[in-house]
Amino acid sequence: MVQRVRKAVLPVAGLGTRFLPATKVIPKEMIPVIDKPVVQYAIEEARAAGIEEFIFVSAEGKESIAAHFSPHPELERALEEKGKTAELKLVRDASLPAGAMHIVKQGNPLGLGHAVWCAWELVGNEPFAVILPDDMVLSNTPCLKQLIDAHAQVGGHVVAVEDVPRDQTNRYGILDVLTDDGKLAKAKGLVEKPAPDKAPSTLAIIGRYVLDPSVFTELDKKTRGAGNEIQLTDGLNRTLDKVPFHGLRFEGVRYDCGTRVGFVEANVAFGLAHPEMADRLRPLLQKLLK
Ligand code: G1P
Repeated sequence: MVQRVRKAVLPVAGLGTRFLPATKVIPKEMIPVIDKPVVQYAIEEARAAGIEEFIFVSAEGKESIAAHFSPHPELERALEEKGKTAELKLVRDASLPAGAMHIVKQGNPLGLGHAVWCAWELVGNEPFAVILPDDMVLSNTPCLKQLIDAHAQVGGHVVAVEDVPRDQTNRYGILDVLTDDGKLAKAKGLVEKPAPDKAPSTLAIIGRYVLDPSVFTELDKKTRGAGNEIQLTDGLNRTLDKVPFHGLRFEGVRYDCGTRVGFVEANVAFGLAHPEMADRLRPLLQKLLK
């Protein structure tokens, strides 16, 4: 019987240097796509997938993330007095239930593997999700829910994957594929950011994972990998003799908000998917492209 996935780890300690000067004071995760901070989409996706506990791996200067997911009594009272019920609902819906949010500080930014390792105490010995908020997914079924459903079938590690152009393998964790049924690919190895001519495939990990807790013991070894960082991919790779690893080609489209062009693309895509905005946005975009 596969254990239910109840906890999600969200690494949010990054400096967001690609988005300076916007990120001088505001965490990059708090920059909005349409009308919600990027990180709120990740939380909503996780809640829709049944996640009950949220562990932010954070850093100094990122306090506004926790504040955003906490009640704001003063604002709520002001909106209530003004009879702004719709707005009040938006504010309240953004709050996580009492006790559902945990913050750990990463201290030194030593890599994604290190960020995930920081959550070990809070996750304990159960399967857990990792969400990288920079990767946004537009889909009918929340991407994380798709992973959790697949995990219930195959156990072990299940991560979201997509085929990328070969000249981009050096931006991702890449699967060395053992078997592939077109939807689920079982990996016999993983490589972090291989050069295109060294990549064992073009199947890339994107920022959604359901992981077996055995990865923590490997991350605890603090072995450095690509970019001299402690890589999650390497930690996972070292568990493959004990734990099955599957990549799921999820239904949906992923937008990389970690780059400025990807961020603009995400705004357009989410705008076109927004019920109150799509009809007004479409002709404006057509006009701009003329
Ligand atoms: C991280 C992971 C990489 C993964 C990617 C997905 O890289 O290390 O394996 O493919 O996220 O977005 P980063 O984008 O932090 O460099």
